[in-house]
Amino acid sequence: MISDKMQQMLNEQYNKEVYSAHLYLSMCSYFMDRDLDGFANYFRVQSQEELQHADKQFDYVHDVDGKITILPVEAPPAEFESIIDCFEQTLAHEQYVTKSIYALVKQALEEGDFATHTFLQWFITEQVEEEATVKNLLSKLKMIGDNTSALYLLNDELLQRQLGAEGAE
Ligand code: FEO
Repeated sequence: MISDKMQQMLNEQYNKEVYSAHLYLSMCSYFMDRDLDGFANYFRVQSQEELQHADKQFDYVHDVDGKITILPVEAPPAEFESIIDCFEQTLAHEQYVTKSIYALVKQALEEGDFATHTFLQWFITEQVEEEATVKNLLSKLKMIGDNTSALYLLNDELLQRQLGAEGAE
């Protein structure tokens, strides 16, 4: 069993994960439009990972006798100013998601809901990894600057990214 408040907060988190999937798919579209297939692949995999996060939360809420309500999802931006803009927006968004997960953890602790607290530990670790990956790519992009050859090397590197099991990548 989870409290109504916890269920509502997890439901809102579920919606944020679905929004994240749409945001990254919009970035995938931005890169496909520019024939940067590696960057497009990176964001397509990221979008798929977000759906895995949403699925995990969907299943958990139902496992503890709650219910997820499917709500409208806000449309993400359709255009971006630059490659760096995409990654800066990604970092800001992931920092927002991290805060949201922390608020869930705080609520679980306040309620003595140790099952939800344990469930959320995976997401805390995942957020650390996600933020670190994006920060690393942002640093590389800033070093690359206007060097097109280096940009294409990074594009090729990002083409290798594949979806891991349950967003474990
Ligand atoms: Fe589901 Fe990127 O956090």
